Amino acid sequence: MKNMHTTLPTEQQVIDHSAEQQFCDDVIAGLTATPKYLEAKYFYDSTGDELFQKIMNSPEYYPTDCELEIFTEQTAELAKAIMANGDPFDLIELGAGDAMKSTHLLRYLLNADAKFTYLPIDISGHVISYLQNTLPITLPGLRLNGLTGEYFDMLNKATTLSPKRKVVMFLGSNIGNMPVADAENFCMELRSHLSPGDIVLMGVDLKKDPRTILAAYNDAEGNTRQFNLNLLTRINRELNANFDLDKFEHYPMYDPETGSCKSYLISLADQQVELCDHTVEFAKDEYIYMEISQKYTVSQVNYMALHAGFKPAGHFCDSKNWFMDTIWVAV
Ligand code: TRP
Repeated sequence: MKNMHTTLPTEQQVIDHSAEQQFCDDVIAGLTATPKYLEAKYFYDSTGDELFQKIMNSPEYYPTDCELEIFTEQTAELAKAIMANGDPFDLIELGAGDAMKSTHLLRYLLNADAKFTYLPIDISGHVISYLQNTLPITLPGLRLNGLTGEYFDMLNKATTLSPKRKVVMFLGSNIGNMPVADAENFCMELRSHLSPGDIVLMGVDLKKDPRTILAAYNDAEGNTRQFNLNLLTRINRELNANFDLDKFEHYPMYDPETGSCKSYLISLADQQVELCDHTVEFAKDEYIYMEISQKYTVSQVNYMALHAGFKPAGHFCDSKNWFMDTIWVAV
């Protein structure tokens, strides 16, 4: 959802009781389930945002650099693929973040006189107002309409705003942050919001040397470890809980067979944690499932496209063949 290299201004602290209640309900649901889990969307408080940026900038984290290489070295080819027959289009980006990579493409499209409007969508209003404030300066002449909200709600809104051809970008291997079955459903739902001829440009992290993948989710500086533990700190602070951070350890793993890279927090002791009027029991060695980053092969991705009602229409890889931006056309 977020790929922010630059530091964004700090969000105002707003006390929102319904959001707090939702957070509490979600955490209780996750920690009383078997196996236990926590939802990744809660990683991103201000410390989480900072740690996430540190992960993105760590030497081990390769996906951003690979995708940036594609967007800088193969801009003309990407642009050609999405300009298609030259009809005006809406360029929609799901989870735009700081739009670092897309900026290269946007600049190219502007110089090529492409007729398009850029519609970044993000769940964070903070991200959208940042883009609305900065992009018109970086990219004079850009037609921009930022949308704050859930992906598919905002995609609906975009379709009601204009009947133009849609090009939807979903970059940064964000599709990987869903288990395969959810990713397949997501692609089908995406297709249902589009019309034949509309285009998807999706960034996918490819299967590769398992050590390279694992290292990216286990940086030596420990930012990924802290990023995971920070969610417990957030729960302590916002939900008055009493997690003892010394009694949980971050455990990342990559399985080359399934292509799943997952992170867990492992309980180092039998223990009890109090939160929102609940007591949650942890057995020693019990885990909390935190996040997935699924890796694919090119043919798995092509299969996913076909299954969801798209035709794969070419893909672009970085020079190491570690990452792919693929073009799908809705059929
Ligand atoms: N989607 C990216 C990835 O899977 C970024 C990301 C999301 C990420 N959550 C993360 C990276 C947690 C590291 C840790 O790689």
